[in-house]
Amino acid sequence: MIICVCRRISDRDIVRHARAGMGFDEIQFELGVATQCGRCEGCARDVVAQCSATSPTAHIKQANHQLENHI
Ligand code: FES
Repeated sequence: MIICVCRRISDRDIVRHARAGMGFDEIQFELGVATQCGRCEGCARDVVAQCSATSPTAHIKQANHQLENHI
């Protein structure tokens, strides 16, 4: 299913990147999702959030990021 009509980005594209441990901002930079009209941003964020909740890689990356902020 196409999430971002402006950039023709599908939910599969977003899921693939989120499962690789990328957050929304990184995916936005990489794919360009939600960088034109912005209507897809909420939906794209939901897809990323759902993947982050089920992806062990994302949790590891998030934990590392939190550790870096505490040092
Ligand atoms: S639908 Fe994604 S930026 Fe317009």
